[in-house]
Amino acid sequence: MIRNAQLEHLHVDGDRLRTTIEISSRIGGTKNNGIQRCAATDEDKRMRDIFTKWVRETGCELIIDEMGNMFAVRPGRDRKRGAVMAGSHLDTQKPGGRFDGILGVLGALEAMRSINDAGIELERDFIVVNWTNEEGGWFAPACMGSGVWAGNITKEWAYGRKDRDGKTVFGEELARIGYMGDFPCDHRKWNIETAYELHIEQGPILWKMKKQIGAPRGILCLHWYDVYLEGTANQVGPTPMEGRNDALLAFSEMCQTVNKVAHQMGDMVATVGEIQNYPNSRNIIPSRVHFTVDIRSWDDNHALRAWQLMKREFEIIAERLGCQIRSEEFWKVESASFDQKLVDLVLESAEELGIGSLRMLSGAGHDMSEINKVTRGAMIFVPSIGGRSHVEVENTAWDDCVRGADVLLRCILKSSQ
Ligand code: GLV
Ligand code: MN
Ligand code: MN
Repeated sequence: MIRNAQLEHLHVDGDRLRTTIEISSRIGGTKNNGIQRCAATDEDKRMRDIFTKWVRETGCELIIDEMGNMFAVRPGRDRKRGAVMAGSHLDTQKPGGRFDGILGVLGALEAMRSINDAGIELERDFIVVNWTNEEGGWFAPACMGSGVWAGNITKEWAYGRKDRDGKTVFGEELARIGYMGDFPCDHRKWNIETAYELHIEQGPILWKMKKQIGAPRGILCLHWYDVYLEGTANQVGPTPMEGRNDALLAFSEMCQTVNKVAHQMGDMVATVGEIQNYPNSRNIIPSRVHFTVDIRSWDDNHALRAWQLMKREFEIIAERLGCQIRSEEFWKVESASFDQKLVDLVLESAEELGIGSLRMLSGAGHDMSEINKVTRGAMIFVPSIGGRSHVEVENTAWDDCVRGADVLLRCILKSSQ
């Protein structure tokens, strides 16, 4: 049982947290101060090996499920009561920063180490989790491990995803690095009462408003689409401008359409982030293009209406330029609305620690979008310097990382009563 006086004096070890994050930064570290450590790659394996060692040092049991999700379980006094879970992901974009996801896992690990140092026996099990392939930057989609765990996608479909170059298959690569465990990847095998995810904001709001903690009331929806265009390849010199079927030209108009519709409809963001152009030669008219569309909004129907509008315009453009078009929905996560009491608990914990906080929304997707479907969840945001993320220069002040981990620790302790 935690006494109030104990809660008053419990803080994480800020230096230890910083050292732990710095060790992580060297695994797949890039020369521009970022990290390239995509899920199911050799770098991911090296990070997982070190994380395994750190978990063993805490004395916890480590469970690895069929999707490679890693759960460090610290038993509570009453094992029948639902557990408190905290974590995020150790994989990065290609290339990404040093904090996205990493702060959430290593901040939760630091909370566990601090609870151990204080010799506290919690009422409930406390679980630190590293979710597999949150980023989806190499093997799409994002939130793969948590998505299978929550039942949004199947394990078989996830195993079959190909990398961005179409050369390797996710399931084979996960097995190759030795992290395809045998514990069922299914939330029904667990009894989780509350879940937290500490994360950098990845946007400019906290940084601009000079607030140290953000408590999102939820996460925008994520709708991902693929569009395939087929035109006619030809020699660029002799082929007149009139009558060409240039798939890249069609794409460029469609890219404008995506941005125009998002501006016109408002309350959403829409992005073309990936494009493959064939044969990608400076003296051949492009015959084939594949591109992706990412649409996010608080209102799923609003996002769906935007897609319908975009699709109609795409078809008109394709017809005018003599290109065939095919599009498909690749992946969808509905917007997540968090448990209001938990959001209040995050704000209350920040206030008790004398830290300025803000109620907000999350524009970035997170494993919590999936976890929140099957348990009560909330997130704790800390400022991203300059609002930059998914880039190597992504940065957060060490003091803010420590403040975030302190708020997380407090939330864990309160929820463990
Ligand atoms: C996840 O990183 C996302 O917001 O796309
Ligand atoms: Mn993340
Ligand atoms: Mn990310």
